[in-house]
Amino acid sequence: MGRCPGCGEWNTLQEEPVEPPGRGREGRGGRSASREPAKPVPLSDVEAPAVDRLRTGSGELDRVLGGGIVPGSIVLMGGSPGIGKSTLMSAALARVQKSGRSSLYVSGEESAAQIRLRAERLGPLALAVPVLAETSLETVIATIEAERPEVCVIDSVQTLHSEALTGAAGSVGQVREVAARLERLARALGTAVILVGHVTKDGTLAGPRVLEHAVDCVLQFEGEPQRTYRTLRALKNRFGSTNEIGVFEMRSGGLTEVADPSERFVREAEPVPGSCLLCAMEGSRPLLVEVQALVAPSDVVPPRRIANGVDRNRLSLVLAVLARNGGPLLGSADVFVSVAGGVRIEEPGADLAIALAVASAATGSPLSSAGAPAGCFGEIGLTGELRYVAHAERRLEEAARFGLERVLAPARTIESHMQGAVAVSTVREALAAAFEEPLHVKRAA
Ligand code: TYD
Ligand code: MG
Repeated sequence: MGRCPGCGEWNTLQEEPVEPPGRGREGRGGRSASREPAKPVPLSDVEAPAVDRLRTGSGELDRVLGGGIVPGSIVLMGGSPGIGKSTLMSAALARVQKSGRSSLYVSGEESAAQIRLRAERLGPLALAVPVLAETSLETVIATIEAERPEVCVIDSVQTLHSEALTGAAGSVGQVREVAARLERLARALGTAVILVGHVTKDGTLAGPRVLEHAVDCVLQFEGEPQRTYRTLRALKNRFGSTNEIGVFEMRSGGLTEVADPSERFVREAEPVPGSCLLCAMEGSRPLLVEVQALVAPSDVVPPRRIANGVDRNRLSLVLAVLARNGGPLLGSADVFVSVAGGVRIEEPGADLAIALAVASAATGSPLSSAGAPAGCFGEIGLTGELRYVAHAERRLEEAARFGLERVLAPARTIESHMQGAVAVSTVREALAAAFEEPLHVKRAA
């Protein structure tokens, strides 16, 4: 077929020869007449020795991985070009190497000389990492078997190709084969393998989605290449939480960790109309971020709803609830909402911050208490009520650390001993409490 009946693109179908059935797999459909049944074991009798995780020495990376790399595991790291995947991996291997563990950096994209040039920017430690510039899967596997590194980075999975298959490197069949063979190798040798993968324009990992099922951990490195902040998050992790994020900053000497991201984001926030500080939780860590909104008369129908860093559907919901609960009516205004610093917030506790930032932008009144910045958190329900979100205490402590004296929070999350919280139970109450003067809601068109 010249044209794919699924996506409508031309010449995208790949031939994938199927091995003839018979050998090895008997009795299709579950009839394995000649086999002895296996004996299931109670989980309590299964031995599970505690494994020492390999620390990469980067606090942020280790936390996202759930405390370090698990030996023999396979990790897929995706990210758009230029985001810093190779830089992050080179630096991580440099620290692994320094801690006395062996590593190997396989690059199918860059020559050894190019890798060296980058390593020079990262400092002397990075020069100690053994590299292999190679695109043949068979050679890579033979090298790993001979060298037995404890951690091996494959940069990138799309550039390796197996001689056993005909497809070009990066094709669905090839990527699947490369991942499957490396996975078997990782399990057999106890080598942790990190596959670097490219991301397509719509942000999904290129290559088959089966890759995501086959690996133990899927990391996504994101951010805008023009900005310096990068966030690393786990989309799947068999050995840890998927809520954790790591924040990095790209500098001339490589990626540096931002150990206290709240500090950065709060310092950059200004108490001006359209800005609201959100006490968010990212996994086990509270994070203060600035949610910004802009409301402007629209010249298109329907008006624009642009959300950066927050979910677009949440924005629509918040706008609808605001309109129903004493907030601005924005039917003929463009609304832009973004989280400063290029961070993406996925938790529902961001709703109230979106609502207050939009209300503040629409009315031109800043959200502050006597000049000091104010913060908030809370999920908004369809009837305009503020719903419970977890970890109120941690969020308030983080807010207090940065001198936020008033934090608007859903009344049902607040207990009497919590300091600094202004308990509100509906969006209407939140609007009344957030602004010093009653809102003069006017149509922003
Ligand atoms: P790179 O890690 O090669 O990105 P990826 O492998 O994800 O495609 O590099 C990303 C960008 O970072 C590159 O355009 C140059 C920049 N950079 C710095 O700003 N400082 C540095 O020290 C390094 C090594 C790279
Ligand atoms: Mg790269």
